[in-house]
Amino acid sequence: MQPDGSIAAVSSDYAVSLGQFSAAAIERAGHLATGLPLAALAGKSVLAKQVHGLVQRLARHGLLAYRLFSPRDAQDLVVIEPLIADYWPHTAKLSSSDTIVLSRFAYLRRRGNEMVLESPRAGALFRICDPAIVATLAALSQPQKISALRKQMAAVNLDLLGLLLEAEMLLKLGANDADGGRVNEGDRNLVLWDFHDLVFHTRSTEGRHVNPVGGAYLHARVVPPLPAVRPRWPGKTIALGKRTALEPKSPFANLLRERHSTRDFDDQHPLTLAELAQFLDTTARVLSEWKGAADFDDGPEVTYSARPYPGAGSAYELELYLAVSNCEGLARGLYHYDASGHALVAIDASAQQLQALLAAAEFAMGASGPPQVLITIAARFGRISWKYSSIAYSLILKDVGCLLQTFYLAATDMGLGGCAIGTGNIDLFGGMTGLEFYVEGAVGQFALGRGRKPEVASQM
Ligand SMILES: Cc1cc2nc3c(=O)[nH]c(=O)nc-3n(C[C@H](O)[C@H](O)[C@H](O)COP(=O)(O)O)c2cc1C
Repeated sequence: MQPDGSIAAVSSDYAVSLGQFSAAAIERAGHLATGLPLAALAGKSVLAKQVHGLVQRLARHGLLAYRLFSPRDAQDLVVIEPLIADYWPHTAKLSSSDTIVLSRFAYLRRRGNEMVLESPRAGALFRICDPAIVATLAALSQPQKISALRKQMAAVNLDLLGLLLEAEMLLKLGANDADGGRVNEGDRNLVLWDFHDLVFHTRSTEGRHVNPVGGAYLHARVVPPLPAVRPRWPGKTIALGKRTALEPKSPFANLLRERHSTRDFDDQHPLTLAELAQFLDTTARVLSEWKGAADFDDGPEVTYSARPYPGAGSAYELELYLAVSNCEGLARGLYHYDASGHALVAIDASAQQLQALLAAAEFAMGASGPPQVLITIAARFGRISWKYSSIAYSLILKDVGCLLQTFYLAATDMGLGGCAIGTGNIDLFGGMTGLEFYVEGAVGQFALGRGRKPEVASQM
């Protein structure tokens, strides 16, 4: 807090400015350290509005936790930790005739000395402070009418159930939802998701959790690094002759030797629309399309396509979205590549979101500026999980690997530069496209452009 009333939140590695506030608002905000009732934010007074604004800003940065307190037992029931920027604790209304069941994506796990309830669908996690709640959650593995649940368990807290329902950890079942097993959970796209795949998707990307992401070296002081090259097995060794590193034998072998990551681009000489068209034509264009019957009895007709890179089950679930920062002949903006029509289709994304996407890529590469074109690889999950169980998401990531190498080789061949990027914010991408993170979500990124220095073949 500064004498002029401005407040900043400071953590070990960053500071967030929260704005300027009156002395009364600052005094009330001071209670946030121990607990400020949400009721203190309600009302139309200037003070309530100021504190509400401050709390919203803190929440947007994931700097707030919400306690659900039981005055009767004088203890916390749960502490809610937001995982997405705009989480706000809403309590859904429930009546005693409603039937509810635990979402099949919700799971309890130990975190340190605490028990937490999480779900890849939820915008917050619930730290469980009262063991009686675990018993209620266990009972909710089967559909339960609220009236029956309350008879069975005296300690059931309706506010908590309302919060869990709003966070999509619980589902309200309709008359036709039968057993509550693999119900569509409010969106039929979720039927196709395996539990572990949706958890992996949301926890191995950015946007829907607050765990450390990327090169954080969290365990570096506990475990030594593994060597770059695996120690040789002790068995009989068959020498394979001299290394051919100095004399690649074919243009393709040359291309593999020349390929390297380029992170800084020449903005005086950006890549052109014609080059971008050639790059997409070489790497990702639909080459042919056909129809075939799914390989099970009475299976429906399925459409297929052939493309320049290999794809699991010929599903070709990957889509390309281009955030264009600097490309001669193409306006700055977000575009979808129509791989069948070989065309770019403009998407109306906000300038601020485009800037955030490009800035995150620049940061991930430690580059001195944004890439000229940032390709986000998104997956139409249902295209592959309609067929494959247990391995759907892993197949998608393997397909991304195939496509990334195809990008690298094509860029090298064209005298352009590129770099794969291992992080990506699925919530930001969802906000830009209006696509739900579980319908068509970001699974990879590739920065493309004309490298700052002339590309010189490296000599090993
Ligand atoms: C899946 C994948 C993710 C990557 N993520 C990043 C990244 O986030 N930032 C970055 O600067 N480089 C990234 N790279 C590039 C690697 O750092 C690079 O390929 C590696 O250092 C070898 O260098 P080279 O590509 O020049 O041969 C990634 C590469 C791959 C294949």
